Amino acid sequence: MPAHTFHSSGPLKGTISVPGDKSISHRALMFASLAVGESTIEGLLEGEDVLATASAMRQLGADIERADNGTWRVHGAGVGSLIEPRQALDMGNSGTSTRLLMGLLASHGFSATFTGDASLSGRPMNRVIEPLSQMGASFEASSGGTLPLMLRGALPAVPITYRLPVASAQVKSAVLLAGLNTPGITRVIEPVATRDHTERMLARFGAELEIGEQDGERLISIRGEADLVPQHVVVPGDPSSAAFFIVAALIVPGSDITIRNVGMNVTRAGIVHALRQMGGDIEEIDPREVGGEPVADLRVRHSDLKGADIDPTLAPSMIDEFPVLFVAAALADGTTRTSGLEELRVKESDRLSAMAEALTLAGARVEEQEDGLIIHGTGGDPLPGTPAGTYVETKLDHRIAMSMGVAGLASRDGVSVDDTAPISTSFPTFMDLLAGATQ
Ligand code: S3P
Repeated sequence: MPAHTFHSSGPLKGTISVPGDKSISHRALMFASLAVGESTIEGLLEGEDVLATASAMRQLGADIERADNGTWRVHGAGVGSLIEPRQALDMGNSGTSTRLLMGLLASHGFSATFTGDASLSGRPMNRVIEPLSQMGASFEASSGGTLPLMLRGALPAVPITYRLPVASAQVKSAVLLAGLNTPGITRVIEPVATRDHTERMLARFGAELEIGEQDGERLISIRGEADLVPQHVVVPGDPSSAAFFIVAALIVPGSDITIRNVGMNVTRAGIVHALRQMGGDIEEIDPREVGGEPVADLRVRHSDLKGADIDPTLAPSMIDEFPVLFVAAALADGTTRTSGLEELRVKESDRLSAMAEALTLAGARVEEQEDGLIIHGTGGDPLPGTPAGTYVETKLDHRIAMSMGVAGLASRDGVSVDDTAPISTSFPTFMDLLAGATQ
């Protein structure tokens, strides 16, 4: 458990690039593993979560290797041709790997066991077990529907129409991936739009996928027994990783940084809207498309932030960015209110209570509600920081560690976190990039 103290810093300056998008990286490895022939992936995030997906796909029969120039080559087996894994699939800390792979394997005629770390083993899997059981798969899960669990796939599986009871791209993707090897048409209805990387990328790999509308809700249909065609995938920079540097630059006086090649898909870019609403100076430069996803360079300058009521309908498009938004709110002038965030309680940690505790320890004024936080900001004055000898508990949650690291940059006495190791799940270069940008 490497503890670390993040001290107040000088301004963030220069131009940086953040690593590849985590959501897109997982999908690129999975879909390439299902296409017959060689796919190549440029800009893949080499974080532990994505490496867990790579090793699972290898156990399932794909041939995956990293070339010296950083490009990943994947020789896929074909939809329906995955093989039974000989050992348990160790998903580490990664909910996305787990839920998407459960979907994929639900329509293959073999069994697989999923295990994970203490954080992942506490997270709810019933949200995917339920629709996948309707398709014919069966499960033996630990009590409460958690990992470790055993899945027995159905061959053939039965196509269903499933209306998402929670706004979750992981659940949506699990059902669509199960649909890939299911004869007929599998449909998902999304009352609230969530990140659409699965739909975009599956269409590029040649799946027959249609997006329509039913009673004002988004309807996604996929035709099963699909043939996927190998692709060259270019992964854009992860907006969820960029968010830490965006907030750092906004709260540290004198900062002016440019973050190159940041994914700006509207289903992910809610944080930029929320921070602009708070008065953040974030300029989009050269908007363009990379690998079927919108990207831009972002120039961010220190700003006098103001508290705001964050529209709960923005939540799905910035669901992973609330921890760092709370940090921005803690430094803003006035009160920020967030609501509709029950889902944050079932992430890598309970992010509402973890951030309320962490920010309070660092001297911020925070009220925890059932579905959000109310934060009374300092008006730009530094936070006091964590008292000597105390540490923020990161609870195996990379985003708590990085968010509180950012808070430390705008603190009087520094912010100590108990464990920076989880940062490697999504952003292995975070500490180096931060050191470089604050020199
Ligand atoms: C993800 C979806 C989100 C997000 C997670 C990645 C994905 O989870 O929190 O980090 O890649 O599909 P939910 O879909 O469960 O909200």
